[in-house]
Amino acid sequence: MLRYERTAFHRSIMPPASLQTRLLNWYRKNKRIFPWRDRADAYAVWVSEIMLQQTRTETVVPYFENWMRLFPSVAALARASEGEVLRAWEGLGYYSRARNLHKAAKIVLERCGGTLPEDATELIKLPGIGRYTAGAIASIAFGKDEPALDGNLKRVYARLFDLNEPVNTPGGERVLWDVARRNLPWGRAGDFNQALMDLGATICLPKKPRCSLCPVADLCAARRNGVETLRPVKKAGKPAPGFVHAAGVIVRRGRVLLAKRPLGGLLGGMWEFPNGRVEGDPAEELAKALWTGYGLKVRRRDAAGVVRHAYTHFTLTVHVFLCDLSVKPRSDHLKWVRWADLDVYPMGKADRMVARMAETMVVSLNAR
Ligand code: ADE
Repeated sequence: MLRYERTAFHRSIMPPASLQTRLLNWYRKNKRIFPWRDRADAYAVWVSEIMLQQTRTETVVPYFENWMRLFPSVAALARASEGEVLRAWEGLGYYSRARNLHKAAKIVLERCGGTLPEDATELIKLPGIGRYTAGAIASIAFGKDEPALDGNLKRVYARLFDLNEPVNTPGGERVLWDVARRNLPWGRAGDFNQALMDLGATICLPKKPRCSLCPVADLCAARRNGVETLRPVKKAGKPAPGFVHAAGVIVRRGRVLLAKRPLGGLLGGMWEFPNGRVEGDPAEELAKALWTGYGLKVRRRDAAGVVRHAYTHFTLTVHVFLCDLSVKPRSDHLKWVRWADLDVYPMGKADRMVARMAETMVVSLNAR
């Protein structure tokens, strides 16, 4: 049988290999190695996709490995306590992801005996699984022909097809999902989606795309039109507001007072140092903030320092003060915690910084 050889002659008359073929070949040779890849474990794919929402792969790797050690199966996760789950997530941010994953594991264990549904239309019914994650799990773990569009893929598609509709509007979203679905190589969606993820993360970078290394540069409409750095188009959002809080480090007999945040809100169920928003001088307003927020009567002592943290929709500046306590209400949400146990209590980034600051301060006060 004649073997088909691609010669220079053939190349000159054959159409170039399709976008799909080239990206799949590129992925086979260049794919990044991650602990969640190439394992026949839909739960691992699910965990990784939830962790990877809004978080960089290099940040996720150690969290993923630790998580799989602590909760190696849907059943193990479903049976863990909320505190254990939040503590394992601490530092990754967006804690509703952990709470939803935990909730969804309980549902999957109860209703499906611990086996994740395969179809995107079923996956999307679980807490914490949106359109992107449902498509990613269905295609990667179950070989379904589903697109998965995250920020990286939106950028890649907006460039490949030179889309000028803003990607963060309902109209832009509709166009992108349509383009993504129409361009899937049937039967290979999992690898294709991951090829686009890797292309977006390593070559089709937001500010400085490395087009000279791109396997599909000659198929890229934005590059052809000289607008690759102007894609994707985004509609300007509102600037994030900045809030100022005053927080109290209240110490008694070798323990420090923590408050549990209400469930349902930002960092719900996690622990914090009693604090509240202030409009004027944080030192002046601290006592009132802790009284109205927690029913705590305190007297301010030394200032411990200032902590800053940027959340997605606002930035927070926390002025921290050592305090003496005169009144504390009975409440399951207020707890005296030994310094040595602080690490066991799940906290957001800002409060963990306050904890480190408070520990240093108490050590130095005791040393005086
Ligand atoms: N980002 C989101 N999902 C990913 C995956 N499966 N591999 C690499 N990066 C990702």
